[in-house]
Amino acid sequence: MDIIKDGMLLLFCETLFHYSFFELPKLLLFSLFVLKLEDMKDTMVELEKFDKMQVIKKYRENQINKTLEQCKDELKASSPPPTVSPGRCGLGQMVNVVGPRTYSITVYSTSYPYGAWGRDAKPAPGDENKYWLVMLTSSNVYGHYVRQYSTLSTLLLGIGPKDTYISSSNPTTNTIQGPNMVMYANALYYNCYYSYSVCQFNMTTRSISTVALPSDTGYNNKFPFAHLGTTYSYTDMDFVTDEHGVYVIYATTSNFGNVIISKVETSNPPVLNKTWFTSLHKKTVTNTFMVCGVLYATRYVDKETEQIFYSYDTKTNKERYDLKINIKKMQTNIEFLNYDPRDHLLYAYSDAYIVTYELIFQ
Ligand SMILES: *[C@@H]1O[C@H](CO)[C@@H](O)[C@H](O)[C@H]1NC(C)=O
Ligand SMILES: *[C@@H]1O[C@H](CO)[C@@H](O)[C@H](O)[C@H]1NC(C)=O
Ligand SMILES: *[C@@H]1O[C@H](CO)[C@@H](O)[C@H](O)[C@H]1NC(C)=O
Repeated sequence: MDIIKDGMLLLFCETLFHYSFFELPKLLLFSLFVLKLEDMKDTMVELEKFDKMQVIKKYRENQINKTLEQCKDELKASSPPPTVSPGRCGLGQMVNVVGPRTYSITVYSTSYPYGAWGRDAKPAPGDENKYWLVMLTSSNVYGHYVRQYSTLSTLLLGIGPKDTYISSSNPTTNTIQGPNMVMYANALYYNCYYSYSVCQFNMTTRSISTVALPSDTGYNNKFPFAHLGTTYSYTDMDFVTDEHGVYVIYATTSNFGNVIISKVETSNPPVLNKTWFTSLHKKTVTNTFMVCGVLYATRYVDKETEQIFYSYDTKTNKERYDLKINIKKMQTNIEFLNYDPRDHLLYAYSDAYIVTYELIFQ
């Protein structure tokens, strides 16, 4: 029972954390907490149905004690919520990345070093708390189904997953190639298998629509993310979400292997809209994400540190190579990185671990 109580405390603690840094009034914070308590109560009942040893084992894997200590410390030192500057999307300049906030192995344990996870950036009413998880179950390159959980706690414990299959075989036409996918309005956006096309998989109808990128777009490991020692296999295309919707990040031969950003209109079929050409060579970057129309790119510093070093502002077309915002890694490699405009967290998939970080704006 103690371990369950610890789990509750951790969830409580995480709840406070997730919300206290944002501009929610205290009253709202309290009601959110009450809601979360209800959620925890349900989780508790579900937990008790489970074999106790199994639960204990999972919690050990999740390094609950370590996270608890960290969480307690940070709560003690909790700073006042930042004042919202009148910047874009109500956000000021991004100045720091703190965390991890969540750090956990999944039910798949260490079987799959390549994968992706997060929340729908534009969920249907009632789906706000859902989390999705996709493992590249074939050769670290290919995936063919999406797993969903009703809450973060059920994801962490591996309770009650729902799997939606794109195809029964893997890989085949229009299944997933490479890890950097996103979920938006109940559709998954990803690089279609062995193709320079964008795939849109409708989770409700299980139908797939596609739109082609330019025919000289790198695919099938031509322009993957990389650093000096390693390439991140088959990461030619990176899908990202921000306050404005979905974008695809890729490179073409005619742009000399440098990064291109295209807005993806999430209509059916999807349509490519505005495109921006950067001078950032794709193979010098380990991943990208976008916040309110600004692209950020990361590079590998060492086993403990990834660094946001580059930004491209799609409003002003200004590039910067002088950013030095460090991300504290829990594992050596980050295979997937995306920003969730709803909670301002960065979601990472790092050598089979799922991790979140909080972005701090000035
Ligand atoms: C977790 O912490 C408690 C006390 O805070 C301790 O009794 C327990 O052994 C710890 N568990 C693990 C797995 O480290
Ligand atoms: C997915 O299918 C549902 C049901 O037909 C539809 O309402 C929705 O617009 C579709 N989503 C996309 C992105 O096409
Ligand atoms: C492209 O983006 C512009 C500006 O956001 C928008 O007005 C237009 O409808 C978009 N085009 C398509 C085909 O969705």
